[in-house]
Amino acid sequence: MRVVQVHQFGSPEVLRLEETEEPQAGHGQVVIEVQVAGVCFGDTLIRSGKYPLPLPWVPGLEVAGRVREVGPDGDRTLVGKLVVARTKNNRGGYAELSVVDATDVFPIPTGLDIQQAVGVFLSGQTAVGLIKAINITPGEVVLITAAAGSLGSQLIQQARAAGAGTVIGAAYGKKKLDMITQLGADVAIDYSKDDWVEQVRKATNGKGADLVLDGVGGTIGHQAFEATTRGSGRLGVYGFSSGAWAKIETRELAARSITIIAPLAIAFAKPAQETHINAETALAEAATGKLRAVIGPTYPLSRAADAHTAIEARQTTGKVLLIP
Ligand SMILES: NC(=O)c1ccc[n+]([C@@H]2O[C@H](COP(=O)([O-])OP(=O)(O)OC[C@H]3O[C@@H](n4cnc5c(N)ncnc54)[C@H](OP(=O)(O)O)[C@@H]3O)[C@@H](O)[C@H]2O)c1
Repeated sequence: MRVVQVHQFGSPEVLRLEETEEPQAGHGQVVIEVQVAGVCFGDTLIRSGKYPLPLPWVPGLEVAGRVREVGPDGDRTLVGKLVVARTKNNRGGYAELSVVDATDVFPIPTGLDIQQAVGVFLSGQTAVGLIKAINITPGEVVLITAAAGSLGSQLIQQARAAGAGTVIGAAYGKKKLDMITQLGADVAIDYSKDDWVEQVRKATNGKGADLVLDGVGGTIGHQAFEATTRGSGRLGVYGFSSGAWAKIETRELAARSITIIAPLAIAFAKPAQETHINAETALAEAATGKLRAVIGPTYPLSRAADAHTAIEARQTTGKVLLIP
């Protein structure tokens, strides 16, 4: 079967299309004929060597397709079903066949498009977990950075559903701002502009955002901190797609009296069963149209390197997919 394999970490060109043996399902496992594989921002971090995994490494955290085989004593009624699944140990998704634990397999609800299912799977599960961890009070002003990304686009919708009064999405460039507005944000702000924090203040009668969710970090993360309401605001940090966490000095915190929360760590600390429920929630909401994934560019397996290049160049919106 064809897989995208990495033998040494580095630039996107290390993603090579190769032939390997077809996998077989062991005890408690399932083999999926992959129709769609999600490309996650985290895949680019691992590939670059910042968070190395054992080599050779087949990237890919999430796949969807039909179940080809279940392991000995597995549930044979799964065979032939359309499912979406998390791969084992952050590996194995960029492939024609993927072996996953049966406990990480979710049936795709009837009527839900398979690309949508991947689009709302891990990002949707994460967004549901983050919003639960951060606890939005109805009517609050919520600011979301990287709002046109895979996770950001889910967070806009989840924040709205959780009762946010005003949702402000911030991102880079007009195309992304248009998308953020279409997803239901009240205000879309381009954070490549020097005055973007001022724009947040203007949109909130000078108050700033009650709650900020930041997955970018670096300078933008620090500016997001500045856009948080003094005295009562909360800044939830969950990522650093810019390459660095926001540097916030204790004296700045003390002066502004803002609470910093790590909602992803809170979500990750929950029992696996809750994470499972979060994924089911996202899939069910997508099936009823309450939640929608923005599907970004799609690529064949042979162009996995182009997918990573586009993510790293900030050219993508929503969920990037590989179609084996
Ligand atoms: N998706 C998940 O389930 C998940 C789970 C855990 C953690 N996270 C973390 O959440 C963050 C967002 O993940 P995602 O899946 O939404 O990724 P994504 O779709 O690739 O979005 C990342 C966004 O970061 C922004 N960005 C700013 N500076 C960047 C840079 N130097 N290089 C690349 N992107 C840059 C880009 O938006 P602009 O161009 O608009 O700035 C881009 O859309 C990441 O830090 C990721 O590690 C995600």
